[in-house]
Amino acid sequence: MAQVIAVLDFGSQYTQVIARRLREFEVYSKVYRYDTPAEQLRAEGVRGIILSGGPSSVFAEKAPRPDTGIFDLGVPVLGICYGIQLLGHLLDGKVEKSHEREYGRSELTVREASPLFEGIRPRIQVWNSHGDRLAALPPGFRAIAATQNSSFAAIEEPTRNFYGLQFHPEVFHTEQGTDILRNFVMGICGCTGDWTMAGYAESTIERIRETVGDRRVILGLSGGVDSSVAAALIDKAIGEQLTCVFVDNGLLRKKERAAVEKLFGDNFHMNLVVAEAADLFLDRLRGVTDPERKRKIIGNTFVEVFESEVEKIGEVDFLAQGTIYPDVIESVPIGGNPAALIKSHHNVGGLPERMKLKILEPLNQLFKDEVRRLGEEVGLPRSVVWRQPFPGPGLAVRVIGEITPENLHILREADAILIEEMKAADFYYKVWQSFCVFLPVRTVGVMGDERTYDYVIALRIVESIDAMTADWAQLPHELVQKISTRIINEVAGVNRVVLDVSSKPPSTIEWE
Ligand code: XMP
Repeated sequence: MAQVIAVLDFGSQYTQVIARRLREFEVYSKVYRYDTPAEQLRAEGVRGIILSGGPSSVFAEKAPRPDTGIFDLGVPVLGICYGIQLLGHLLDGKVEKSHEREYGRSELTVREASPLFEGIRPRIQVWNSHGDRLAALPPGFRAIAATQNSSFAAIEEPTRNFYGLQFHPEVFHTEQGTDILRNFVMGICGCTGDWTMAGYAESTIERIRETVGDRRVILGLSGGVDSSVAAALIDKAIGEQLTCVFVDNGLLRKKERAAVEKLFGDNFHMNLVVAEAADLFLDRLRGVTDPERKRKIIGNTFVEVFESEVEKIGEVDFLAQGTIYPDVIESVPIGGNPAALIKSHHNVGGLPERMKLKILEPLNQLFKDEVRRLGEEVGLPRSVVWRQPFPGPGLAVRVIGEITPENLHILREADAILIEEMKAADFYYKVWQSFCVFLPVRTVGVMGDERTYDYVIALRIVESIDAMTADWAQLPHELVQKISTRIINEVAGVNRVVLDVSSKPPSTIEWE
């Protein structure tokens, strides 16, 4: 079993970043609810605990608090921001209430040698964001660094290996912040960086087997990265006990369904059920032009079709989902009501409750790039693992206006050319997304001696890190020209191709 560092989540927007940083050292870090029982952490073999920051004040009535048993586990503890105040408050120091938050940079001066600051320069810039502040140290602690505003910017209790930082070492603006975290997990907690994707795959497969036993699992396979990786992983664990349901909603790209059937049915030999529902979806979408109504109809119809397929399968105990870590709600709401930490982003309606299905989410501790590495580990091809995001409502949001079989056909053919050329020029995997949009606008053209009056295709090709912001990609002219020429020559019904040169914001990536 890999060595684990527990990050207790008190609601900071940076909690995920802490976990991310530690995994860059190949140390397995897992985010837990702030009040996870100490016994559970002990049972899971946790080597060290980090108390995250958070928006609360320790004085608030419902302030989130850890199980104080964590201080008796005999493992090092590092409190960050709200975490240092918890150390002060719970271990008999003194925290001062403040009505203003301190934000921004300050200079940290290291005053004492400490394993936490091994190799750290005597003065570094650090990033603060905190409300209350530590006013007196708990017994046994000493200050090891200070800022202009605080003599207790970093503290330690060397006997029990408890440490506290008033600033955020995990954020980019803190100089050598990564080194401080590394000192904690490798130096103080003694982790060796033993976390590999192969090991993770193995232990997750083992855990799925234990959880599922001889029962049955269904999974909604979309063909996207997350559900594909989840399917391949669960297949490795329980094989025949898994049934994947793929809904053909008639809004897929060219040959997409065939590719899913070939990969998962033929190569992986999975139980794959394909629900043929194109007519139903297109029927319900007839005459609909409002983007939000399109989405709603597609969402509801998906749930309906999926449910009826599941009912046909018969006895099923688990619903598997490809939920990944960023889908897990980032923070505990202010006021410390950590009700539900998991948001279910795959909306399969009330199916789990109605059919009494248990949820299986084997990817819910992984970040996107880790999911991709895991996908490679379990034998998925590059074309699946590195595929571009594709919206759930599919081509419906890329046919502007009414969705008709004719419009869909034009879009599908044009899009296939774009993808083919992007791959041939080795740009497909370099951009975030590249796709065509069908515009229900007819313009005049000439082809040969004939006047044409045909539709317009827009090319949307963007670069992005996380889809929150995006820039249009500057591709070689010759490539754009080739795509345009091929679409106009080969796709009947199109006589004009335009390039979308808008960034997000203020535009969005999709057109609807
Ligand atoms: P926008 O258009 O909002 O898109 O800039 C950001 C990212 O989200 C994808 N997207 C969707 N994904 N259902 C999805 O599953 C949707 O309704 C949807 N709309 C947009 C889009 O492709 C881009 O990657």
